[in-house]
Amino acid sequence: MANFKRYLVTAALPYANGPVHIGHLAGVYVPADIYVRYKRLRGEDVKFICGSDEHGVPITLKARQEKVSPQVIVDRFHAINKKAFSDFGISFDIYSRTSNKIHHETASGFFKTLYDKNIFIEKTAEQYYDEEAKQFLADRYITGTCPHCGNENAYGDQCEKCGTSLSSSELINPKSTISGNQPVLKETKHWYLPLDKYEDFLQKWILEDHKNWKTNVYGQCKSWLDQGLKPRAVSRDLDWGVKVPVENADGKVLYVWFDAPIGYISATKELTSNWEKYWKDKETKLVHFIGKDNIVFHCIIFPTMLKTEGSYILPDNVPANEFLNLEGDKISTSRNWAVWLHEYLEDFEGKQDVLRYVLTSNAPETKDNDFTWKDFQNRNNNELVAILGNFINRTLVLTNKYFDGIVPEIADLLLQDEETINEIAEIKKKVEFSLENYRIRESLKEGMNLARLGNKYLADTEPWKIIKQDENRVKTILNICLQITANLAQILEPFLPFTTNKICTLLNYNKLGWETIGSVDLLKTGHKIGSPELLFSKIEDAEVEKQIEKLQKAKIQNNTNNNIQPAKPNISFDDFTKLDIRTGTILEAEKVPKTKKLIKLKIDTGIDNRTVVSGIAEFFEADKIIGKKVSILINLEPRKIRGIESQGMILMAENSEGVLQFVSAENDIENGSLIK
Ligand code: 2FM
Ligand code: ZN
Repeated sequence: MANFKRYLVTAALPYANGPVHIGHLAGVYVPADIYVRYKRLRGEDVKFICGSDEHGVPITLKARQEKVSPQVIVDRFHAINKKAFSDFGISFDIYSRTSNKIHHETASGFFKTLYDKNIFIEKTAEQYYDEEAKQFLADRYITGTCPHCGNENAYGDQCEKCGTSLSSSELINPKSTISGNQPVLKETKHWYLPLDKYEDFLQKWILEDHKNWKTNVYGQCKSWLDQGLKPRAVSRDLDWGVKVPVENADGKVLYVWFDAPIGYISATKELTSNWEKYWKDKETKLVHFIGKDNIVFHCIIFPTMLKTEGSYILPDNVPANEFLNLEGDKISTSRNWAVWLHEYLEDFEGKQDVLRYVLTSNAPETKDNDFTWKDFQNRNNNELVAILGNFINRTLVLTNKYFDGIVPEIADLLLQDEETINEIAEIKKKVEFSLENYRIRESLKEGMNLARLGNKYLADTEPWKIIKQDENRVKTILNICLQITANLAQILEPFLPFTTNKICTLLNYNKLGWETIGSVDLLKTGHKIGSPELLFSKIEDAEVEKQIEKLQKAKIQNNTNNNIQPAKPNISFDDFTKLDIRTGTILEAEKVPKTKKLIKLKIDTGIDNRTVVSGIAEFFEADKIIGKKVSILINLEPRKIRGIESQGMILMAENSEGVLQFVSAENDIENGSLIK
């Protein structure tokens, strides 16, 4: 393994268009903070970089909704999120923002370097344009039906239902989100990063040289590379963002995903004049903490940008996490299905570490995980209170009771004492191993084993039973318990920084650094500790029930909103008669390989037998729907979906939960009857 002299750790720059929630903390910021705190404790030279991502269409859309300028939106959420992170002890060295001058200069300089090196392809192509708004429709300014799963609300850059990354030309029935109109195609010039040219480099760099990356990250990269890369436009026709710094580029800005990762560089520049040491010296280990939806940008696109620029190092690791769900449902800002950090603190004042602990214990490291309030309560009551808090409290209470709060001396060490002491160093090694391999959840479990060890030691030695007969033995036992407590203050610091500070206050002790873990001479004989105080308190049923009720209210509100879908604009009778909807029967059905949602159907329409690809596999098994009667729109222009020509559309009813049912004519109606 290479030896690194310093660490540059980045955490994904969250968009400044909304507040951060527990999903953000669990997936990115808490694990990154734990890793950084650990490295700092080891005395490493480490910089921890983050900030607000202040460009991109979601921000301009929100500004448009609120009828304010995008700057007003980003100012508001930059302040809210900066405070939320700091309240939760996320110890960034800098929390910058991409609307800063230094960022605009850095991002535009980076683009210019690549431009001057002739890296980009300059290409004029047709793109959707809203004639009423007089604007090209980038990314989220356009919605339509996803060609992969049939979701009618897919965006021009991504379908949130099936997760496929799209380009707006792939959308079926595209619509402008500004005017609601159908857009027209118009020519526009853009600059493309030819990712396809760097496939060989990426294949080797990722698939051969970084086999140690997490399986989810490696797997996603492999699948992108196996499918073959295409040139990607790195500019947009928008007026909010970093201006494209070349001639004849009026009205063009850098694509938000081109400028955002450069934000890591500009923030480092803002932080230190020594920034080049962190970005350009091979002895720096660069680590990007991100969520799974950011993998392609951090593992493929940004490294290609850095590589083609030529003077930068590449990431050593990209430990991306999967997603955290909430009470069995996907966290969603628009549906208010989230636990917002600022709201959590209103209800659980001073309990930042409880949330850090629960989110780490249940971190979505290898698969999506679920946060439930019941689990939150159980982990607090059964682990933090009953294991960690209980051990430390008993140690402090007994020391005060028997020895007036003075650290007693060790007399003779028995085998049992020695085994316990040796175990501390073993635990340290295990925590280190897990942290070095980004297994943060496992490392917390190992760290908590030190508190378990302390509890077991107290339970086995029972000092309260022997204090009268053998005070010397009790002195030894409590000395060891106090040393374990001081070790806990050290080893748990990355995970529970507020609690470990409190433990230090209770011990009247200053931490001495990671390397001292394992020592049983942290608290000197004769040292006076403070008075005991509880580190954690029980969370009652009523407290979590209140939170669950809050979520239920959000759900009812959502369902109400969902059920009253606003009516679409009227259409003429002529328009209606253009639709040719028939009854039909499913003759054959088979799942389309390598897709989650698609089934290929052969339908008897009464006129012919035709093939239709339908996004219904989540709700029906192919072999169970053969013979089913359906309604089918037969004069929809044929479309290729995953290489199969689909000649029509099955009509489905979607309920408020997103579940699909056939709009079927189960009566024995002759195939081909017209639905009028
Ligand atoms: O997904 C997001 O929230 C993006 N704003 C992350 C950007 S990370 C980096 F590249 F800046
Ligand atoms: Zn889709």
